[in-house]
This record gives sequence, C-alpha cells and structure tokens, in this order.
Amino acid sequence: MNDKRELIRFSNAGKCFSTPGRGDVWAVRDFNLLAHEGQLTCVLGASGCGKTTLLRLAAGLEKPTTGEVVVDSSRVNGAADIGLVTQEGNLLPWRKVLDNIALGPEIQGAKRHKRIAAAREALSRVGLPQKVAKSFPHELSGGMRQRVALGRTLCAGSRIWLMDEPFANLDEPTRHRLQGELLDVWFEDHQTVLFVTHSLEEAVFLADRIVVMAAGRMVAEFQVDLPRPRNRLGDDFVNVLLKVRRVFTETDR
Ligand SMILES: Nc1ncnc2c1ncn2[C@@H]1O[C@H](COP(=O)(O)OP(=O)(O)OP(=O)(O)O)[C@@H](O)[C@H]1O
Ligand SMILES: [Mg+2]
Repeated sequence: MNDKRELIRFSNAGKCFSTPGRGDVWAVRDFNLLAHEGQLTCVLGASGCGKTTLLRLAAGLEKPTTGEVVVDSSRVNGAADIGLVTQEGNLLPWRKVLDNIALGPEIQGAKRHKRIAAAREALSRVGLPQKVAKSFPHELSGGMRQRVALGRTLCAGSRIWLMDEPFANLDEPTRHRLQGELLDVWFEDHQTVLFVTHSLEEAVFLADRIVVMAAGRMVAEFQVDLPRPRNRLGDDFVNVLLKVRRVFTETDR
C-alpha cells in the first residue's frame, strides 16, 4: 500500500480472559493487522467484540495470550511514544486544563516554561480558547474535555495514537467538529492512529483503512480512497458507507 515502515503489527494475536463466571473469554482471536507509519485505521465493531482489548494490547496494557503484538519494532511496554485516548478522556480531575495537557512533557522532564508553552500551543491547536487553561476538567463540557484529552496526546508528541471511541458520547455537531479537528492535526503531523468506533459514518469520514471486528476476529478490511476533505453527503461517500454497512450487517448476524 505504501513504503512507510510498519509501526504496529498483530501476528496471530489472541487475548483470553479467565473469568470465574464465564470461564475462558477470548476477547481477541487470531488477529493479524499491520499499520504503517502515518496511517489512520478505524476499527469498527459491535459492543463486546474486543475493540478495547485490541487497543489495550497495542498499548502494552495487556499481554497477548497467543501470538505477538509488536509496536515500533519493539515489544510494547507502555512506552511514552504511545498516546491512549479513552472515551472518558481520563483527565486528572485535580489538575487544571493546562497542567493536564502538559503532563507528557512533565513526565519527560521538560522545564516548566517549556511545557507550559507547548501546552498553550496544543490548547489552541485543538480549538480551545486560552482562557480555559485555568479551568478544572469538571468545569468543562464533554466536548471540551475531549479536546483537552486530544491536546494532551498532541503535547506529549506521541507518534502512535490509540483512540477508544473518543467522541462516542457527544452530540453530532460537536462530534463532526472534533473529527475535523483530529484530521487537521493528523494532516500536519501524520501520527499513526488506531481509532475505535461504533459509528460507520465516523469510520468512513476519518479512515484510510477500516477494519471490521466481530467476536474478537477481523472479519473485513476496506481501503477508503476518498479524497479529503470528505463530503458526508456526496455520492462517493454514501456509496462507501453503504458498502461498509452491507458487510457490517452481514457479519453481525
Ligand atoms: N479484564 C477482563 N476480564 C474479563 N473479561 C474481559 C475483560 N476485558 C474484556 N473482557 C471481555 O472481553 C470481551 C471484549 O471486551 P472489550 O471491552 O474489548 O469489547 P469492546 O468491543 O470494546 O466493547 P464496547 O464496544 O462495549 O466497548 C467482552 O466479552 C468482555 O466482557
Ligand atoms: Mg470498548
């Protein structure tokens, strides 16, 4: 597809949870996936099909039971190069917005004035006014919190972004705006992104490539070659959406 290097590779990866109530639960099975540097991959699937587990494997937060998960040519160990954005945003509630955003440079040992300058820049890149810098997360709307979470990942300079339904709980206009902002940031820096979503439309709008999961397995894969910016009402967009919907509905039976 392209000659860029592979940053994420799942090779026959599987994850089994042994539970007292349900016995062995295979959340991910026989999973093979290659993500090249700068590629934006959306992972689509019904609730419980293993999407979060897949991201946690990539983040090094879970160890595969079978097979291998390799990120940036080394076994994943939660390296700082990986930014994980969850549905809740996972902001630290006792820290003001700017200090949440500056967390990555702080962990990396940057001096205060440097990390504050980087956080201020990230704040404006995700479309937030500087005046929210001193707010606490609970004082913000859900959409603003998601922007802060995005800004924190941006500020940390991670080259790999693992995003778990980050916009799922937002109203449609806010979701659309944040999708656009994510793409603006990605156009500039070309991070390698694994983006989990339930939304077929979101996947077609964002992705270079869509991976469909069912019961822990990859059941389909699409390249999305539509030019950007994508017009959600255009015939080409709707045609791709229908194609994905057809496969999604078939695999959901
Ligand atoms: N820590 C765990 N212990 C036991 N079972 C787990 C654990 N984590 C996930 N599972 C099980 O693995 C399966 C996949 O879960 P996962 O959270 O990956 O699904 P998901 O696709 O992210 O779902 P959703 O769309 O609802 O977030 C489910 O059956 C879930 O109950
Ligand atoms: Mg999940």
